[in-house]
Amino acid sequence: AEYMKGVRHLYDAGVTKVPGRYILPAPERPHIVSCGDTTSTHNLKLPIIDLSLLHTPKRAMVLEALSLACKEFGFFQVVNHGIPSEVVQEMVEVSKRFFGMSYEERAKYMSSDLRSPVRYGTSFNQIRDRVFCWRDFLKLNCQPLESVLPFWPSSPADLREKTIAYANGTKSLFMELMSLILESLGVDKKFLAEFDDGSHLMVVNCYPPCPEPNLTLGMPPHSDYGFLTLLLQDEVEGLQVQYKDQWVTIEPVPGAFVVNIGDHLEIFSNGIYKSILHRVLVNSLQNRISIASLHSMPVEKVIGPATELVSESRPKQFMDTDFAAFLEYISSTEFKKKNFLESRK
Ligand code: SIN
Ligand code: FE2
Repeated sequence: AEYMKGVRHLYDAGVTKVPGRYILPAPERPHIVSCGDTTSTHNLKLPIIDLSLLHTPKRAMVLEALSLACKEFGFFQVVNHGIPSEVVQEMVEVSKRFFGMSYEERAKYMSSDLRSPVRYGTSFNQIRDRVFCWRDFLKLNCQPLESVLPFWPSSPADLREKTIAYANGTKSLFMELMSLILESLGVDKKFLAEFDDGSHLMVVNCYPPCPEPNLTLGMPPHSDYGFLTLLLQDEVEGLQVQYKDQWVTIEPVPGAFVVNIGDHLEIFSNGIYKSILHRVLVNSLQNRISIASLHSMPVEKVIGPATELVSESRPKQFMDTDFAAFLEYISSTEFKKKNFLESRK
């Protein structure tokens, strides 16, 4: 079927209606009041963590702001993060060129194997999803780089080079943020070594303009599985997070990364830091690109609440878990809501 070829293909073919397979049941639709309305009261300015202040007397304030953001929102933005802006811009630009290639060229990287080092597809999981979402994606495993590299797309010709530079940048930033997070939680920093060869997945998302954005979503409500996700969004808004029972839009801040807590960190922090539901809206006018870097421990490691964070007054909130349990979970059910964490309680 045409819709199996994804939304970029549908957009390029000039569809004027959303195909039935992408239409959400009425209660799950986004109820967009006015698309692209930045004056809406449902916009949220996330706490901004400025990493350049870490080397100043304001260091303690930064840590305090970080800790508050992780408890209250499960999300924050980082600026002055040290990844050169050329590296970031070139990654966005090569991603645009990847999705601009012909369907046949992109389809070479399709795979239904969730563990494949490269996976191109549409929706969330096009084999299982009953209703598709308005998103095409390229998922790249980035760990260990030397062995996954030969599987990455060979075109555009500079994709590998640009992606390596970007992946190295996000990995260092992740390590710096994890170090701060361990400090803010009062957990021994020797734990950081667990991430040296931790899992690192990059998901490049493309959300083409959608003729009927009220009928579908770019991504359904979900939480991320890992420790931290570092998200780069272009200037087009679309990401919404759940805050006080409302869906609020995260305004893009040029050059910043949106960082969110994943399920593994909620478990590791014994529930102190929150992995929050989020979703993506689409719009009828602009193509949107986002690049998510998902970081966790090596896939074979067992993750449980840190011993420092378990006490008589705060007993263990979660069972130990591992990546296999997560994969089993997502292959057996529609990946929606926060059911995975619930299943670990
Ligand atoms: C996005 O904002 O496009 C992606 C959000 C996500 O990875 O959940
Ligand atoms: Fe996500």
